[in-house]
Amino acid sequence: MRRTTFRPEHARPKGKKMPNITYIEHNGTEHTVKVAKGASVMEGARDNNIPGIDGDCGGACACSTCHVYVHPDWVDKLPAKDGMEEDMLDFAFEPNPERSRLTCQLRVDDSMDGLVVVMPEKQL
Ligand code: FES
Repeated sequence: MRRTTFRPEHARPKGKKMPNITYIEHNGTEHTVKVAKGASVMEGARDNNIPGIDGDCGGACACSTCHVYVHPDWVDKLPAKDGMEEDMLDFAFEPNPERSRLTCQLRVDDSMDGLVVVMPEKQL
């Protein structure tokens, strides 16, 4: 006979919880999904069929079609952009110097639990 052991949430090993990320489409539709640690924010949208992030280059930082505006509360909490991301953002649709990020360059970790990103009107 097979037995399963129930473990309440507080007794489960720490660090296994997947961070929640909220994607807001340009029309205001919100999608809050769990994204695996180590995946990119772009992959979180793609794997959950969330519209508004294309990711045409597959995450190689070569297309800018994964552009989003980070919610103002999160701008200073994310890792800084590197030069390649800065350069590629010049090709994004209506980039915002403070809030624009390429989601393929944002690797999900525990610190991103609750992250909110807003998609632009379109991807170029
Ligand atoms: S997926 Fe192409 S730059 Fe992010």
